[in-house]
Amino acid sequence: AAPTGRYADRFAGQLVLVTGAASGIGRATAFAFAEAGARVVAVDRDAEGVARTAELAALIGAPAAWGETVDVSDEQAMEKLAEKVATEYGVVDVLVNNAGIGLSGSFFDTTAEDWKKVLDVNLWGVIHGCRIFGKQMADRGQGGHIVNTASAAAFQPSKALPAYSTSKAAVLMLSECLRAELAGQGIGVSAICPGLVNTNITSTARFAGVDAEEEKRRQKRSSRLYGLRNYPPEKVARAVLGAVVRNQAVVPVTPEARGAHLMS
Ligand code: NAI
Repeated sequence: AAPTGRYADRFAGQLVLVTGAASGIGRATAFAFAEAGARVVAVDRDAEGVARTAELAALIGAPAAWGETVDVSDEQAMEKLAEKVATEYGVVDVLVNNAGIGLSGSFFDTTAEDWKKVLDVNLWGVIHGCRIFGKQMADRGQGGHIVNTASAAAFQPSKALPAYSTSKAAVLMLSECLRAELAGQGIGVSAICPGLVNTNITSTARFAGVDAEEEKRRQKRSSRLYGLRNYPPEKVARAVLGAVVRNQAVVPVTPEARGAHLMS
């Protein structure tokens, strides 16, 4: 079928790599790029899920789609992935560093091991992606775009999410620094900052201690305030494509995130 939608064929001929693509926002983003005519490399540590994403992306309209099983926090594995992708598929035009894990718990309930786990994936995963694939883009000299999934948590302090929010604030600043560094080379960098989105992360994040209840109440208050319910990952995916097309720096997504960004 002919591609339809706002970005029909906009990414034809481009190679797009999305991490955390086995589920939620990453899977929806892989599908959106597929619909827009891109070749898609879907990356996740969940082998089965990522293979399914690649299969569906091809059905949706990607001229080609591959699934690669990689842990983004593993630097060597990311280097191997970059080599393989460059050799077999080409240099990536758009990189979406989206893989992430949730973790809640008050500051003193959060162990050093918890901090390490969250920072390893949410921050180091993004650093590895930017360093390794960003370097390939820069060396090629034909521009490109990097999208990092931060969060409204990056500019909205919460007693219940200290480690997660810190990791996302770091991703936001990293994105802005890298954007300044790469601007002269035609490589854009965007930070996507969604508020609450209906995915696995919101149901599987570890809720530790008393803050679980408080966090639920906070989310309920936000829902009432902004009338948000079940914000779909597909809408975040559309914002990702928009950020690339318009070369936007920081993109708050969901009414709650836009409100928090304005007040930050
Ligand atoms: P999700 O849990 O549905 O998807 C996350 C994906 O990342 C999963 O497929 C998981 O297997 C993968 N992943 C986790 N650790 C990995 C690793 N070390 N290596 C490779 N893949 C790994 O959750 P969702 O919501 O789609 O999350 C995507 C991104 O959006 C995350 O960075 C998250 O922090 C961010 N985000 C989500 C929000 C929400 O309310 N759902 C709000 C704001 C940001």
